[in-house]
Amino acid sequence: METTMDVSTETVVRPPYAKGFETLETEVELDSLPVEGQIPEWLTGTLLRNGPAKFEAGDRKLKHWFDGYAMLHRFSFGGGHVSYANRFLQSKAYRAALNGKASYGEFATDPCRSIFKRAATLFRPQITDNCNVNLTRLGDEYIAMTETPLPIAFDPDTLETLGYSFKAPGIHATAHPHHDPARGELVAYVTHFGLRSEYRVFAQRDRATQRRIAAKHVAEPSYMHSFALTERYAVLVAFPFVVNPLDLAIGRRSFIENYRWKPERGTQLLVFDREAGSLRGVYEAEPCFAFHHVNAFEQGGELVIDMAAYEDAGVIGALYIDTVRVSEERKVRPARLLRYRVNLESGRVSEEALSDVPIELPQIDYRQCNGRPYRYVYGTGGTTSDNSEQAEFIDRLVKVDVEDGVTCEWREPGAFPGEPVFVPSPTPDRGEDDGVLLSVVLDARGTSFLLVLDAASLGELGRARVPHHIPLGFHGQYFS
Ligand SMILES: [Fe+2]
Repeated sequence: METTMDVSTETVVRPPYAKGFETLETEVELDSLPVEGQIPEWLTGTLLRNGPAKFEAGDRKLKHWFDGYAMLHRFSFGGGHVSYANRFLQSKAYRAALNGKASYGEFATDPCRSIFKRAATLFRPQITDNCNVNLTRLGDEYIAMTETPLPIAFDPDTLETLGYSFKAPGIHATAHPHHDPARGELVAYVTHFGLRSEYRVFAQRDRATQRRIAAKHVAEPSYMHSFALTERYAVLVAFPFVVNPLDLAIGRRSFIENYRWKPERGTQLLVFDREAGSLRGVYEAEPCFAFHHVNAFEQGGELVIDMAAYEDAGVIGALYIDTVRVSEERKVRPARLLRYRVNLESGRVSEEALSDVPIELPQIDYRQCNGRPYRYVYGTGGTTSDNSEQAEFIDRLVKVDVEDGVTCEWREPGAFPGEPVFVPSPTPDRGEDDGVLLSVVLDARGTSFLLVLDAASLGELGRARVPHHIPLGFHGQYFS
């Protein structure tokens, strides 16, 4: 079901998932969505999701999937029924866009600062607050996050924007903080750009309580999207996709377009001892790139770190909207599960592919398994053609057993699923994959539905249809 669209002056093939990169203006609040199949009765919480939903600012089009203005979505469960609401996050960047101005620098869309304004805002550009990547709970507060230092608090029921939460101690933040249940904190890192640039690992207990854990000077910081946390260590995997901070300050490019792929540098694993507040060591590995860590744990003197890894950072360029809408040009080798084993004494790092299947937006039974040995990874996947190993767009959900590499999948023709969120069943002494997966799926009708799968088999239990399309999003969480 391919139709055509005009990009610039050329007529190109429009892939069936192109709707996922189109603006959704509609905001609704619905008590009950039509359900097919059975939603488990024990599912009584709320799935909150975040992602881009507006791709223009006046006449100006945003350039990259990661640039779109944030919309929050709420799916609430009870008695086998599903209610739904969606609402734009009222960031300053979004409100400026409503007024026709792209006056904030997004990930890959530049605000067109004058050279004088660039000089005046050296190292402190008008950074976006478009928190479109992820969300979590910090103490009693729900926050939406992107890779800039100002998360925005929101009401989890009404999705009303409540204002800024804490400020991360740097400029390029992660939207993937970890929870440390033992200390009751979020743990995160931020890159500070300046005359002396640093990676800073810190903990946030609530809006007002922040503490520094450790820091490391870096001349050319790496673009990192997430990190690993074990009981004792925080691990930054610094890929050789790096930036000269001066280029960020005075360059004419958008944020990410200042980064350069320098494979000769290899990948550096920076292992911070969280208790000592110091760098335990820097370990060298082959060049690669990843957005998402999967899990990490300590095992017999080794540190095990699992990621969804690409061969290089080309995937970022493949996700420009004018590229991703044109399937033939979007080809990159997909991410696969990569395991590092780091011997902290000898410094030896070994690398092992855990599976051959493409995987992105990886999820685990986070509460039970993060920082511990584990078995199952869930994620989005794609087809791989026989000869090129180039993936088509995300068209399935996959599950990988990291112990034996066995995989299973869910897919349906014309359906494009998002990140699968694992929700454990309330069964006592349950198995690691005893629960359900929740995923928002765009389908060939041009609308979206919430899919509920049995996490053990990836068999469908039910689905709840939304009356509009939900643009392809990034991350979310289930709150019981
Ligand atoms: Fe992410």
